[in-house]
Amino acid sequence: MSNTALLTVSGLGKRFGGLQAVADVDLEVRAGEILGVIGPNGAGKSTTFSMISGALPCSTGTLHFDGKPLQGLPTHAMAARGIMRTFQHNKPFASMSVRENVMVGMHTRLTGSLWQVLAGTRGAAKAERDAAQRADELVDFVGLGEWRNADVGTLSFGQGRLLEIARGLASEPRLMLFDEPAAGLTPAECDRLSDIIRQISQRGIAVLLIEHDMRFLMALANRVVVLNFGRKIAQGTPAEVQADEAVVAAYLGDVGALADA
Ligand SMILES: Nc1ncnc2c1ncn2[C@@H]1O[C@H](COP(=O)(O)OP(=O)(O)OP(=O)(O)O)[C@@H](O)[C@H]1O
Ligand SMILES: [Mg+2]
Repeated sequence: MSNTALLTVSGLGKRFGGLQAVADVDLEVRAGEILGVIGPNGAGKSTTFSMISGALPCSTGTLHFDGKPLQGLPTHAMAARGIMRTFQHNKPFASMSVRENVMVGMHTRLTGSLWQVLAGTRGAAKAERDAAQRADELVDFVGLGEWRNADVGTLSFGQGRLLEIARGLASEPRLMLFDEPAAGLTPAECDRLSDIIRQISQRGIAVLLIEHDMRFLMALANRVVVLNFGRKIAQGTPAEVQADEAVVAAYLGDVGALADA
């Protein structure tokens, strides 16, 4: 992990009508780190992610990725620049195999060639073989190797989550945003997911991770930012934020959440 900021967020704010969902949030994600984002329900975590990924415009504040401003870029341009967000309810492309779904995730990198590949254009055979090989590596990486040729419709919920991660990795991101990736997974699937996120970080990809499962998050995160009512109330190592009075107070209605970690 280095101390160089990959993503710098300053004074970020979002207003929905009369509701200040996010207010004056500063944070930075360093290359190769896992930065956890926690906070009670409605604290503004997902809204913050939406602004970072370009899905929502910011009401206030600035975003810099690799020293360059991010505002105004559409989501697909953000992906091309290296930011990938996984969604809790992302639907895979039905009636395609696991491998083909991952190949579709490469389109931000293949700049058009994948569509030639899928259309069977002459001269595209090598590109297709390379893409299929790379897709297989990613499918193996998330542990879906046995299912590479299976129709995505036959995957379990947990396997669908793993496929989404493989598809996200296919675009070769430098920063991945995970919004509650452990939600709905079995304990064994959570352990597997935790290993995968750790290995993603070891590959040099920075990770921003929102998670309500404190045991899961605190074991993974290098640093944690805490939001409450849209504002950042603390940041530090997992041990520091768990001992922080403002954080404990914010979670008072939900004492079990922090105590579990
Ligand atoms: N599109 C929207 N329009 C209006 N209000 C919204 C919108 N999206 C979110 N909000 C409100 O903004 C606040 C922050 O929501 P957000 O989804 O960011 O919280 P969160 O921290 O992700 O919560 P949770 O832990 O429940 O997922 C909430 O009060 C929510 O109701
Ligand atoms: Mg949320």
